[in-house]
Amino acid sequence: MKVVHNIQELRDQLQGQTRVAFVPTMGNLHRAHLDLMKLARQHGDPVVASIFVNRLQFGPNEDFDRYPRTLQDDAAKMEQERDVYVLFAPSEREMYPEPQSFRVSPPDHLGRILEGHFRPDFFEGVCTVVLKLFSCVQPKVAVFGKKDYQQLMVVRQMVRQFQLPVEVLAHETVREEDGLAMSSRNRYLSPEERAQAPQIYYALQEMNERLQEGQSREEIEAYATKKMSDLGWKVDYMALRRQSDLLEPTEEQIQAGEPLVALAAAKLGATRLIDNLEMVKA
Ligand code: PAF
Repeated sequence: MKVVHNIQELRDQLQGQTRVAFVPTMGNLHRAHLDLMKLARQHGDPVVASIFVNRLQFGPNEDFDRYPRTLQDDAAKMEQERDVYVLFAPSEREMYPEPQSFRVSPPDHLGRILEGHFRPDFFEGVCTVVLKLFSCVQPKVAVFGKKDYQQLMVVRQMVRQFQLPVEVLAHETVREEDGLAMSSRNRYLSPEERAQAPQIYYALQEMNERLQEGQSREEIEAYATKKMSDLGWKVDYMALRRQSDLLEPTEEQIQAGEPLVALAAAKLGATRLIDNLEMVKA
């Protein structure tokens, strides 16, 4: 695997390649990232992965400064798996040599709801860096995890509206044995919090059970929010939405078998976790 830190070097490495498969990450790699790279390998060649902790997508009170930066360990993990041909790990100065005053803003109906409501600049930061990374790597295929469900949808819509020649592939959420979705932020959890953390996934499963029992969207959301709060979480949202656009489904749509997704975001102590589960009323 070649590790490159600047854009020119990356372009030289990829000269003439027309089937590049790309996995953008912020590093601190775990099994789920490595699985994205495996999927990339099945859909293109060579595989390029990036590691870049993107300041633009962090709010002023978020964890940009303490976000784990573990480049050497990450590179060793990728070497072992042998899926990645080029690791692109640019510095901040390389990606943002001047203040990034041109930005890509998703529409409010997608970018300001759910995550975007609680993290107002998040999707603009994500879109801006993903567009820049796509411009550096020029992939044919790019792989994103379904754990960041709204991010996946935002990126897909950006690609569609800008008519970028990139196919976006989604990888299923990868979970620990107890159901907790893998995330770099899990490492912030204390041992007690780690033991409690799968509750967010169990709450999503319970939302599905209640959906199947015939409860309304409002009842399901209210129940899940109360349950999580009673367990000591600070809930941002426990929401049942349409898979197609993340808007609220009507009762008729639910009964007609509209594909739905339950999305959760809540804080356990100082750590904010997100998760989601797709579901359909049978
Ligand atoms: O999902 C992530 O790790 C980041 O949001 C991404 C897509 C690499 C952009 O910085």
